[in-house]
Amino acid sequence: MITLEGKKYYIHTFGCQMNVRESETAAGILQSLGMQATQTMEDAHVILFNTCCIRDLAERKAWGAIGASRTRKQEDPQTIIGVFGCMMAQEGANQEVKKRFPFVDIVFGTNSLHELKPLLEQARRGMRVRKGQVGDAQEEFALPVFHNSKPSAFVNIIHGCNNFCSYCIVPYVRGREKSRPMTYIVQEVEELVAQGYQEVTLLGQNVNSYGKDTGDASFAELLRRLDQTGMPRIRFMTSHPKDLTEELIDTIADCKSVCKQIHLPVQSGSNAVLKAMNRKYTREHYLHLIERIRYRMPECGITTDFIVGFPSETEADFQQTLDLVRQVRFDTAFMFAFSPRKGTPAARMEGALSAEEKQRRLAELIAVQREITMDVHKSLVGREEMVLIEHTSRRSDKQLTGKDERGRTVNLNGDLSLIGQMVPVRIVRANANSVFAERIG
Ligand code: SAH
Ligand code: SF4
Ligand code: F3S
Repeated sequence: MITLEGKKYYIHTFGCQMNVRESETAAGILQSLGMQATQTMEDAHVILFNTCCIRDLAERKAWGAIGASRTRKQEDPQTIIGVFGCMMAQEGANQEVKKRFPFVDIVFGTNSLHELKPLLEQARRGMRVRKGQVGDAQEEFALPVFHNSKPSAFVNIIHGCNNFCSYCIVPYVRGREKSRPMTYIVQEVEELVAQGYQEVTLLGQNVNSYGKDTGDASFAELLRRLDQTGMPRIRFMTSHPKDLTEELIDTIADCKSVCKQIHLPVQSGSNAVLKAMNRKYTREHYLHLIERIRYRMPECGITTDFIVGFPSETEADFQQTLDLVRQVRFDTAFMFAFSPRKGTPAARMEGALSAEEKQRRLAELIAVQREITMDVHKSLVGREEMVLIEHTSRRSDKQLTGKDERGRTVNLNGDLSLIGQMVPVRIVRANANSVFAERIG
């Protein structure tokens, strides 16, 4: 039987920040077995795929990547290949992996990372282990995590979702809401402060539900507690509009370390579509929330998500979405064409739109939002901001990239030694997806 000590692991992560964080937990477990990370499959002894099934494209990408690991397994049959995450928590996913990729050693679903160690043990004994399903998050909360993303870290605070938006697969593959005990969260953030981290992003499908299942503390109380830890910047996502309270808006405004930034997915500007989506708020309520946020925090960064081409979405419904975009003037938005997910109510609804029509609407929405983002960026020129430098920019390794308090991407010229530092800048130029700045002071 081979030992894993001193060997290398490779993790390929698809999907949202929650998956990124859970891959860090998987890494923490592998590190505790004496393994080290590598950036390619070629020299890896353990290869893990953390999957996503939010849209069809995400699934196709994951299948492609898993298929590509076949060569590595043929080269060295002792390589252990594992697939886990949301896609594997779907009914029948196990069988599909078995059929398409019989060389895969381990399959498990969500909320099951505490099983990774025993499953690896079994795989080392040559067993194929498949148990794709939704496990019990409780046991995952205290696992070791390997944060390797200085200066900024993800911290999960609530797993699962109870909302059942009619298009969404998440409640089926992640199970019911389970809040992580506040003591673990505070402890983790305090450790990150001690290690020199400058920013945490608190993660949950709906952070506003935090504590409702345990009665521990509300999300607003958690934010106030974390504001005392000395962490310079605290962000969070995602907030569901139906649960965003005045108390929470006040808390964000009042807490020094909590960034003035809210990601508040609206999905559609039409009440008929919102109802069919089971979002449980109206366009008017959403606009009222935006007003409240801007009244308390005139400078707050506001971003959102949209789905276009929902079944039966009429041209008039779509125009209502465009109208809402123009009215709110979001900083940026994530925009998607509706992708039917098997097992969700929306996948069975009548009035499906053609792929061409969905794409036309998506392109039109993206064009409108792009212009607004550009205008917002232009209005920032001349302003002074504090930027947390994260890494070199994608375009050039002589350029640095960071974020301002409102979560906007800021590029600037500067020395690599600035990475991880908070620096004062003046914004000098607007681009479509970011702004360019110069250091001051
Ligand atoms: N929990 C978060 C987001 C979860 S998924 C929330 O409630 O807002 C992220 C985004 O993916 C969603 O906001 C939605 O815009 C999009 N999405 C989810 N299911 C989708 C589907 N079936 N087709 C297209 N987009 C989808
Ligand atoms: Fe999906 Fe809705 Fe839950 Fe978000 S709130 S994860 S969109 S069901
Ligand atoms: Fe995807 Fe699961 Fe996140 S379906 S978006 S990885 S919660």
